[in-house]
Amino acid sequence: MGRVIAVANQKGGVGKTTTAINLASSFAAAEVNTLLIDCDPQSNATSGLGLIKDADRISTYHLLMGAGAAEEALQTTALEQLWIIPAHKNLIGANLELVDVERPEFRLRDVLAPLRDRFQFIVLDCPPALDLLTLNAMVAADSVLIPMQAEYFALEGISELLDTVDRIRASFNPELAIEGVVLTMFDERTNLAQQVTAELKRFFGEKLCATSIPRNIRLAEAPSHGKPALVYDVRSKGAESYIRLAKEIIAHYLAAQEMPQVAEGAAQEPELPVGEMDKSA
Ligand SMILES: Nc1ncnc2c1ncn2[C@@H]1O[C@H](COP(=O)(O)OP(=O)(O)OP(=O)(O)O)[C@@H](O)[C@H]1O
Ligand SMILES: [Mg+2]
Repeated sequence: MGRVIAVANQKGGVGKTTTAINLASSFAAAEVNTLLIDCDPQSNATSGLGLIKDADRISTYHLLMGAGAAEEALQTTALEQLWIIPAHKNLIGANLELVDVERPEFRLRDVLAPLRDRFQFIVLDCPPALDLLTLNAMVAADSVLIPMQAEYFALEGISELLDTVDRIRASFNPELAIEGVVLTMFDERTNLAQQVTAELKRFFGEKLCATSIPRNIRLAEAPSHGKPALVYDVRSKGAESYIRLAKEIIAHYLAAQEMPQVAEGAAQEPELPVGEMDKSA
């Protein structure tokens, strides 16, 4: 049964889409069948993999509205083992239109059920909002991967995201785990980055991914060529770091399956250091 990872952070521009595209590509390059689902009306993951805009093509919107099967929405990519379910800006309508349907939070989960045996990883690129689209992604997911920049106020806003994860666990998806927190656009040379990393390490413990993603121009250029970084420039620091992140997640997943006690320990939630957060604010 495949693992469904939602890449989420309600903050805009933190590297969700870059992470979703390049992590999914790195899984595929590691020869595991992988599906990337664009859950964001901005459709950056769709265009980033070179798909042209097409409102009529079966996309995430149609799946959520019950107007198509997931199987029919699959598109191939430049990588043999990577597929994508594209989005279009019409997806913005789903937020409103879904309000009237039954169990609106479970639409994506139900639609994906028949695909879960076909893919070892399904990566969901979420919009920068804690809206019904992100909710659908988190209800469909086994875990949430949180991309974050090492900024001074990095922990602000994260409490809202973790509260949302808690609420989803309580109401819809008790198994939802935190896959990890990954630092993006990271510049390890600055004191600030070092300080913030130390604070995040205290806060998230082993949930802070060992791999961080450096700021790398190739990662920013690749989407305009419609390619994941490892196709655009496999030797770039950006491509290399996402390959490392994919390996870290695969290793963790394999270890967790073989050693359930490790999985349990790893699933422990970090406590919110409310006092510390207040001070830093
Ligand atoms: N490691 C990196 N190095 C250099 N540029 C990066 C890196 N990661 C992301 N970027 C660039 O930063 C911008 C924001 O990244 P991205 O689109 O991945 O963020 P996002 O969280 O998906 O944004 P949104 O919230 O709008 O969906 C993009 O222009 C992207 O190319
Ligand atoms: Mg995005």
